[in-house]
Amino acid sequence: MTKPIVVAVTGAAGQIGYSLLFRLASGETFGDRPVFLKLLDLPIPEAQKKLEGTAMEVLDCGFRTLAGVECTADPNVAFDGASWALLVGSKPRGPGMARADLIRENGPIFVGQGNALQRGASDLRVLVVGNPCNTNCLIAASNCAGVPKERFGAMTRLDENRAIAQLAAKAGCTNADVARVTVFGNHSESMYPDFENATIGGKAVTEVIGDRDWLQGPFVQAVQNRGKAIIAARGLSSAASAASAAIDHVKDFERKTPTDAWFSAAVWSDGSYDSPLGIYTSLPVQSDGKGGYSVVQGLRLSDWAKGKVAATNKELLDERAVVADLLKG
Ligand code: NAD
Ligand code: LMR
Repeated sequence: MTKPIVVAVTGAAGQIGYSLLFRLASGETFGDRPVFLKLLDLPIPEAQKKLEGTAMEVLDCGFRTLAGVECTADPNVAFDGASWALLVGSKPRGPGMARADLIRENGPIFVGQGNALQRGASDLRVLVVGNPCNTNCLIAASNCAGVPKERFGAMTRLDENRAIAQLAAKAGCTNADVARVTVFGNHSESMYPDFENATIGGKAVTEVIGDRDWLQGPFVQAVQNRGKAIIAARGLSSAASAASAAIDHVKDFERKTPTDAWFSAAVWSDGSYDSPLGIYTSLPVQSDGKGGYSVVQGLRLSDWAKGKVAATNKELLDERAVVADLLKG
């Protein structure tokens, strides 16, 4: 039997977990490769009971690709041997809050978990979903001595998917027609969804949609504020779409990206597009499908767009300063 891939999910008893685990186990994400799920939630009876219940449902799906499920309250157990660790467990924001308001409450979670991630497999890859995800990713990576910073990333794939859906609706085409959208910067209201390099049916978005005022105004704002709009409408933050984006992120890194395509992920800044070093910022990424990735170079941005990218990166530097006491190396 093929060796199972061990996938750890934190906050697995929560609402994102409930949409995520089934798609990790079903074969959708890792193909025929068997998956062993390690599920972490808080060491309190209520959370552990809910976790057991969710695990029971995963087992009851009878997925041929599921090699086993282990529930735990100990990050050292959860991350032991993991090739992927999806760090979801943390508090979501409520109405009227910014994601950055969570930083001092959620940030410390990623100190201990960062340390425990040293138990991961040699091919460990980490996706941070819990907000504010870019800065939580920085905290986890800086507390995980010995694991390269490039093995960590934070989730902006949801923002890319939202941007694609907005552009498709405006152009009256399908989501599949939209390509080459990049979300730059922070998963926050300062993020910049780049439409200047995006295409619809192979043509420039600026040509197909033509309405630059809409692109620079309502489009950018809709993507930036979508999380808040969902909280206002549902009373809860996005869950199924967030889980779906996490699956997209994992799949994007697992396979080689076609030469003419890319995807958005917050990765360890290499200075591309004038991003400051020492932060996790969203950039256009291509995976080599073997555990490595590169940042797509040469995208042309107008001065207006460069200003937006600079502003969202400045916000990440400010967030880093707020958690300076939680950062190690
Ligand atoms: P939720 O409250 O439904 O679930 C969170 C779960 O995490 C709970 O079961 C809780 O017990 C658990 N948890 C809390 N602290 C933990 C810890 N230290 N260790 C292990 N488990 C812990 O929340 P949710 O809706 O699933 O959202 C989770 C996080 O994801 C939030 O921070 C939310 O803002 C974020 N989020 C990010 C994106 C994104 O695009 N990056 C999208 C949606 C949600
Ligand atoms: C989202 O973008 O939906 C999540 O980050 C949840 C939130 O707080 O907006």
